Amino acid sequence: MASRYTLPINQEVHGSFVENAYRGTRGLDKVEALANELASDIFSVKHVTFAPLSGHIAALGALLSLCEKGDLVMALDSSSGGYDGYNSDYIPDMLGLRADTLPFAPEIWNIDVEKAVEKIVEQKPKLVVLGASFFPFPHPVREISEVCREVGAYLAYDGCHVFGLIAGGEFQSPLAEGADLLIGNTHKSFFGPQGGALMTNDSQIFDRIKKNLTWRTVDNIHWNRIAATAQALCEVKDHGKGYAGQVVGNSKALARALDDGGLRPLFRELGYTASHQIMLDPEELVASKGLDFNSMAIILERSNIIIDAVGRLGTNEITRLGMVEGDMERVAELIIGALDGEDVLEKVLKFRRNYNVCFC
Ligand SMILES: Cc1ncc(COP(=O)(O)O)c(C=O)c1O
Repeated sequence: MASRYTLPINQEVHGSFVENAYRGTRGLDKVEALANELASDIFSVKHVTFAPLSGHIAALGALLSLCEKGDLVMALDSSSGGYDGYNSDYIPDMLGLRADTLPFAPEIWNIDVEKAVEKIVEQKPKLVVLGASFFPFPHPVREISEVCREVGAYLAYDGCHVFGLIAGGEFQSPLAEGADLLIGNTHKSFFGPQGGALMTNDSQIFDRIKKNLTWRTVDNIHWNRIAATAQALCEVKDHGKGYAGQVVGNSKALARALDDGGLRPLFRELGYTASHQIMLDPEELVASKGLDFNSMAIILERSNIIIDAVGRLGTNEITRLGMVEGDMERVAELIIGALDGEDVLEKVLKFRRNYNVCFC
């Protein structure tokens, strides 16, 4: 599958009707149909494509399909945890769109609904994109979708980070709450291969998305990836709910254990997080350990504990390995031990050996 193509064209070529530009495609077409059917069922949505090669390509296809040159797009600024791709220098600039930011309330790490509604009424964007890369709390989809409808704007939701949680019925259900389009990727909280996804209940939007796939944002789809995505979807269908609930339970438990151990996550008063992500407080980290995020990530990597260099910890991978709330105290202990200068590599390796069975 990794090197085969399929391209249904259903048209006459040199006098003969050609169903597909390639042969040997029956298996591929079946696998794609299976992935789409499973996803429609899991996400309760009519139209699905996993053709975009990544979340970024899905975002590009979304903006191409929902906007025309000169239109205004509003999304969160990257300094507020938004995805850089929607900021003015990137996709909007490539497509000749204007970009503006959604008002943000850092203390609750969320959209400032009142100010956002005001700004949307005033500026009348063509598209508003919710969703983020630093994404501990659900976005106000319902409230923003109402004002979008009022001014005739589309509402897209970039669920790349929380795709596996949405699939498992956790965090939020952006399409049911009023978003026109769900942009996703299949390799963050969704435990599949690297890839992108677009989902909508609106047939006109989906027609435009399909037009913007072949020869515009992708040519040949990576069918090995679609097969692996279908396999992941089969597992999500049977175990996605338990997995997603466990991911969130683990992040809350890990955040609490880190806090008890003196490594302060942000948003204690908000329950720390409702997603797979825990965000650390940079000032507390300097004060308690004398470290910035990058040096923390480097120290932990030496002990086989992988976090990013911008202060986020994620529990999706350890949950997939089978860890539960009761294990988070040990995880926190190992993290804090490493940051306090202890050599914890052997302890990490020993602990990790207990979790060779995946969640599903
Ligand atoms: C919110 C969001 N959207 C889109 C992307 C891009 O996804 P991909 O890496 O699959 O291209 C990212 C990447 O981290 C992201 O955080």
